[in-house]
Amino acid sequence: MLAEAVYPAMGLTLSGMGVTESDCADLLGPATVEEHGDLALPCHSLAAVLRRSPMDIAEEVSLTLAPALAGIAKVSAVSGFVNLSAEPEWLAVRLSELLADDRLGIAEEEARVAAVDYSAPNVAKEMHVGHLRSTVIGDAIVRMLTYKGHTVYRENHVGDWGTPFGMLIEHLLDLGEANAAEELSVGDLDGFYKQARAKFESDDDFVERSRRRVVLLQGGDEETLRLWSVLVEESMRYFNEVYQMLGVLLTRDDIMGESSYHHLLPVVVQRLDESGLLEESEGARVVYPGGWVNREGEPMPVIISKADGGYNYATTDLACIIDRVERLGCDDLLYVVGTPQSQHFDMVFEVAQQAGFMGVSHNAVHVKFGSVLDSDGKILKSREGEVIKLVDLLRESINRAEQAVAERNPELKGAQRQEVARAIGIGAVKYADLSTERTKDYVFDWDRMLSFEGNTSPYLQYAHARICSIFRRSGAERSSLRVADISLDRSEEQLLARRLANFAAVTDDTLATYSPHRLCTYLHSVASAFATFYESCPVLPCRGRSDDDQQAGPVRFDSQDNLDGTRPVRH
Ligand code: ARG
Repeated sequence: MLAEAVYPAMGLTLSGMGVTESDCADLLGPATVEEHGDLALPCHSLAAVLRRSPMDIAEEVSLTLAPALAGIAKVSAVSGFVNLSAEPEWLAVRLSELLADDRLGIAEEEARVAAVDYSAPNVAKEMHVGHLRSTVIGDAIVRMLTYKGHTVYRENHVGDWGTPFGMLIEHLLDLGEANAAEELSVGDLDGFYKQARAKFESDDDFVERSRRRVVLLQGGDEETLRLWSVLVEESMRYFNEVYQMLGVLLTRDDIMGESSYHHLLPVVVQRLDESGLLEESEGARVVYPGGWVNREGEPMPVIISKADGGYNYATTDLACIIDRVERLGCDDLLYVVGTPQSQHFDMVFEVAQQAGFMGVSHNAVHVKFGSVLDSDGKILKSREGEVIKLVDLLRESINRAEQAVAERNPELKGAQRQEVARAIGIGAVKYADLSTERTKDYVFDWDRMLSFEGNTSPYLQYAHARICSIFRRSGAERSSLRVADISLDRSEEQLLARRLANFAAVTDDTLATYSPHRLCTYLHSVASAFATFYESCPVLPCRGRSDDDQQAGPVRFDSQDNLDGTRPVRH
């Protein structure tokens, strides 16, 4: 990376001027405006140390540094900043190195063990767009961590336990097992849940049966557990269908539902008690972590067990921390869950620290995300005000993509068209989610996410298809280009090269903040630099060209183009 190449000379220059290492630590960073260069050293904080104006300091640094960096970077001083721009010769060498490197410059890190808690839908309830966000963002983080060499546990903390299961099991019995399974398997989870809820609200006998059923379930009654597992199984079948459609890594093996921590709940109570944190409050057992107050200004507890002996969501999450730290040996515990659960996680992490379930070396992070909104700025719902079913959303995206493909590439038909439509449709939904800053809300907008212009998945897929098309037409094997002479004469080539050379740094930055949108912004900048380059620099031995038809034939989406990235691009 350019920073590493300039550090030694820069260090010498600054120390020669009387700046200590601590005065200039971390000053050098990416230039905020790309036109100014790749890196910038702001000299404003040095002004006080050296008792000179920032302009003056920048001038001197730049004069001394320039000869030392000849062939590496151009150095200039602009209003108190020293700007550094990689020289084309240096970039060309860097690109040749990247071309020969299977990892594209991404270094493996000292391995840590991470649990990524993501997706986590609830049994017998519809997956909604919130679960989509968690699934897509979580999966991106898992892939990046794995690539950096860490051991990653995918943990799908499915909601599969608790009092509603009494009512759900009774409803299952009322419908008859076969009918209920049928209803659940067609994915009408919400319908099932609502019917149960409606009976629970109007039928005293049903309420009583449900109560008894919860007791049986918690007591481990065999038949009740079997009925419970029917509900779990049918829901999982449906969730897995969604995972397959989305092309995420989650499988059945990653399911660690709330019920998996059952055996640890008494352990949580016992250990909190031993550490002196547990208090009694109106029959319930609670912990006051301190620092949280309710609207009346009273201290807020984390409820560990209720007066009736039942455990809480927070208790399960405490058990979960014990399991991840002690059984899996995790250093990092990441929770990809919506922002509304912030307080829950803050309090749970605090209690876990105080009780010694995790220590200072453990890094527990709530990787929170904002909501998906409709065009009126409200939480996205169907016209009937119901939760939108994720599968319906994905199917609609595929349909819309198919229309777009039919217009753009009428020659593409049948199964091929469907395959391309699937890649574009699913890609659009996933990318719209990944490319917006995680903590922000975003508006779900079909036209924008399926547009072939802008920071969208179709735009990137199109750039990729275009590159594949060059290879197809040229007959050149990708592997034959692994050792190539690179020269960067034109500004369009240099821009593309500068952006490509940043890949590893952007990836690290993306992971450091668990912010996939940074990688997306970068990818879009690479694709658009490629488009500019392609417009003006001939790639194939030329038959004279002004558009795609002359150079490489029309750019077509082709199923061989690996649109969904399932096959490795490099051969
Ligand atoms: N099932 C929960 C929900 O749908 C999310 C669980 C998140 N993970 C956790 N460890 N609490 O809101």
